[in-house]
Amino acid sequence: MPVIDIHNHFFPRAWPNLAARYGTPDWPWIKHTEAGKADVMVGDRCFRNIYAACWDPEVRLQEMDRDGVDMQVLSATPVLFAYERPISHALDCAELFNDAALQLCSQGKGRLKSLCQVPLQDIDASCKELSRSMRAGHLGVQIGNHVGERNLDDPGIVTFLHHCADEGAAVLVHPWNMLGASRMPKYMMPWTIGMPAETQLGIAAMILSGAFDKLPSKLRICFAHGGGSFAFLLGRLQNAWEHHPVARGECELAPKQYVKRFYVDSAVFDEHALRFLVDTMGAERVMLGSDYPFPLGEYRVGGLIRSSHLSSRAKARLLGDNATEFLGLSQTNETSDLKPQPGAPIVPHAEQLTYGSYLRVPELLELQRPQSSPQHHDELLFIIVHQTYELWFKELLHDLDAVVANLRDAGANPDSRDEVYEAARLLRRCTEITRVLVEQFTILETMLPTHFLAFRGKLEPASGFQSEQFRELEFLCGLKDEKMLRYHRPTPEAHAQLERRLREPSLHNVFFDALQAIGKVHLEANASERERFDARARAVLSLYRDERSNRDWIDVCERLTEFDELVVSWRLRHIQLVERVIGVRMGTGGSAGSSYLKLTLDKKFFPELWEARTLLTE
Ligand code: HEM
Repeated sequence: MPVIDIHNHFFPRAWPNLAARYGTPDWPWIKHTEAGKADVMVGDRCFRNIYAACWDPEVRLQEMDRDGVDMQVLSATPVLFAYERPISHALDCAELFNDAALQLCSQGKGRLKSLCQVPLQDIDASCKELSRSMRAGHLGVQIGNHVGERNLDDPGIVTFLHHCADEGAAVLVHPWNMLGASRMPKYMMPWTIGMPAETQLGIAAMILSGAFDKLPSKLRICFAHGGGSFAFLLGRLQNAWEHHPVARGECELAPKQYVKRFYVDSAVFDEHALRFLVDTMGAERVMLGSDYPFPLGEYRVGGLIRSSHLSSRAKARLLGDNATEFLGLSQTNETSDLKPQPGAPIVPHAEQLTYGSYLRVPELLELQRPQSSPQHHDELLFIIVHQTYELWFKELLHDLDAVVANLRDAGANPDSRDEVYEAARLLRRCTEITRVLVEQFTILETMLPTHFLAFRGKLEPASGFQSEQFRELEFLCGLKDEKMLRYHRPTPEAHAQLERRLREPSLHNVFFDALQAIGKVHLEANASERERFDARARAVLSLYRDERSNRDWIDVCERLTEFDELVVSWRLRHIQLVERVIGVRMGTGGSAGSSYLKLTLDKKFFPELWEARTLLTE
């Protein structure tokens, strides 16, 4: 995996006197102060102290080797954008520095690549210069996040971004010309405060204006400095979008849905911030960007990512894999894929679905967060086993909901048998999944009780009582114990979902309603609960007594019985695991532990199916 830094800058060793060339003051110029050092001046003012890495490829390559960086994608500095200048001057300036960038890269032993700049105040000129630069060898373009009063949602800029997408040019958005400058005269606040705000404004403008809806998904665009304050304030944007019609803008989707449309770099300089950024954007949306070799850049490029607690897979994505996609490098190298040789492996393009992007593998592997510190070896197993259970619970709910729908249709349409077969087929899947769930406890039993106790204290008061999906499964099947809702008060969404399940007809209700609809359940209007129970059990009995006519319904009964049986097996194996690991101690959820859990062994979803067996022997 190559390590690629997509955000760093250069200045040529020398360039023409622009003030004289254009006859206007305050153009940047370079003043060499001592060997290997220089000041970039704007008029009489020192804009920035720089050193040889800005212009000397040898210094750059040495420092890249020191930091373990394979490739840098360099761009000029926003002070050269010249968006407020006459177009002819801005275009000439862009051409000068674009060519200088390629000149520097040509001495970079293939390890230096570049992004061009364009005179963004003129869209035609920008499109032409972009096309020229791409033909000359640039990989994309660096643009400012605004042109005067125009944000990135300006129709002209959106047209330019369309052109970038068509040219396959990567776009790096860099904040510049910061807002509120008069209130931030000191302490570099335009850089530390203004820049993040500018970048957030750029992203929000593109989202809320619907610019992302209009632009093709093949557009590869990245926002510098971790996207500024965007990630941290996305919740605020989302909340405003949900509750205030005026804040909704013209976008088709909620703001959170757009994070997959752009990248950000990793220049946030703090591990917690990086982690949060990766959580918000996804590990496939953050790329190494250092701001090297400027004073506000990362001193050891890539150090933050490497020393973070991100998984090795996420690190690989941030350090280079994402940049390879962003820059279209895989496409360039893989043009031969368009005409694959017989027997040659098929390598997907950046925009195509891959195993990892379809299954969201990087995100999945990011979701294990041990609490122990230093991390206890077995805590990862503990987390993964629980997460696996929850994934299967999700599938069970999905399938059981479909069983309910099929049985409801079967009741509504007694002559059709398709729905009954389909219900039985899906129930067979549910029993097979539950069989795996019973078995899975053995993996956790490889953990010594002492090893569990080493991190158990970190888990309180988290407890299996709070498994929303487990309780949903019970409610869906018909075991509705309203008291259990209290464990979900801290999570209102889970609480609301369980309340919904509590109100909805259960699998048990729907199954017996269907039997009633096909004339198997005979009930007096004022029947007691006991009489109703008996009537349901006798309905099952009648199915079994006429096997030839009722094979499909009997199949459903058998599957439901098996499912019931397997859930009890699950409860029993869970108790055995609990006793093996913590003996008869109390649970972290405050129950009496195994003695409480033993009381649940008598719970059955479909007791009438079991009662029918007793009746059969009468
Ligand atoms: C070391 C392993 C485990 C121990 C010591 C343990 C312990 C317990 C205890 C003591 C309870 C009772 C509630 C309480 O007071 O907290 C409980 C409930 C529960 N546990 Fe576990 N458990 C373990 C593993 C698992 C696993 C792997 C799952 C898989 C999802 C799981 C799911 C549940 C569920 C759903 C409940 C609620 C059961 C009910 O209310 O009927 N547990 N667990």
